[in-house]
Amino acid sequence: MLILGIESSCDETAAAVVADGKEILSNIIYSQIDVHSKFGGVVPELASRRHVEAIIPVIEDALAVANLSLDEIQGIAVTQGPGLVGSLLVGLSVAKSIAYVKNIPIVGVHHIEGHISAIFLEEDNLGFPFISLVVSGGHTSLYLVHGLDDCRLLGHTRDDAAGEAFDKVAKLLNLGYPGGVVIDRLAKEGNPKAVDFPRAFMSHDSLDFSFSGIKTAVLNYVRTRSKEVISGQINDIVASFQEAIVDVLVIKTLTAALSSGVNTIVLAGGVASNTRLRTRLKEMAEEKGLRVFIPSPILCTDNAAMIAGIGDYYLRKGKTSSLDINAVSRWPR
Ligand code: KG4
Ligand code: ZN
Repeated sequence: MLILGIESSCDETAAAVVADGKEILSNIIYSQIDVHSKFGGVVPELASRRHVEAIIPVIEDALAVANLSLDEIQGIAVTQGPGLVGSLLVGLSVAKSIAYVKNIPIVGVHHIEGHISAIFLEEDNLGFPFISLVVSGGHTSLYLVHGLDDCRLLGHTRDDAAGEAFDKVAKLLNLGYPGGVVIDRLAKEGNPKAVDFPRAFMSHDSLDFSFSGIKTAVLNYVRTRSKEVISGQINDIVASFQEAIVDVLVIKTLTAALSSGVNTIVLAGGVASNTRLRTRLKEMAEEKGLRVFIPSPILCTDNAAMIAGIGDYYLRKGKTSSLDINAVSRWPR
């Protein structure tokens, strides 16, 4: 089955064609970084406008790279939520129009289920259940996954998402946007033990997260030192900040796996492309005899191949959406 996936929940306009839920024939991602970077974060109204301009060319590109015409597409998968409502509506409107005109089935999917399913585009030997840590700009959640449509929430952030913390710390240090990628790069040149930033574990057995405290700790550290001192220490500060975030993410993920008696971990979401997190999670999980699967970085950050993948799963099961589906900006899972 040839599925066209469409993703427009935040600041990436993306379209992809995936065959049989497995083979990526094209995966086009148009990033809006240039639009939002001067504001240090995504401006929702500007994002929707840019999606409107980009969505048709991005879909045409996805078809061209896959060497297919729209007539050969057998189903459409589109991100229905959660996300920015104006952005979601652009993808949804185009998806519904194509489904109507070509008379093919459409399914609206959950963005986070898309992130979790990304690993199936690359891995054949992955059975259920597994623990998934979903870390993105909007989410930091641990799930016990029994099936792609059966993700049980074990814990989530009570304040900022991990990606949000990366972006906010990068902003307060004037490092540019999006912060995660910049911090990842600079941290490689820094000492992760230079500054002892706090790790919020909360109660011993809690699988919830909190990242607003560390952001404030970085702010206080910067405020109490001169500009000259800080600019000479940037790499050490970001390396120490990143280490504190990674410590909490890794330890809680291992705790979730061990306490659930599950031996497989899947990392997902934009922050899953963080090199330090990938390395530390693999190292520490191996010590405990746990298996770790992490998608390639291009399938961790927002993309439409993962949307086509989860869409294929639902369409195969006969689940379709009607043409009156609406965007769901807050959609718990
Ligand atoms: O999944 P995603 O592309 O969009 C959302 O669904 O939110 O995640 C975006 C987030 C941003 O906060 C970005 O700073 C972060 O992922 N991110 C990273 C890295 N690459 C992207 N954070 C840390 N290290 C990275 N290499
Ligand atoms: Zn995402």
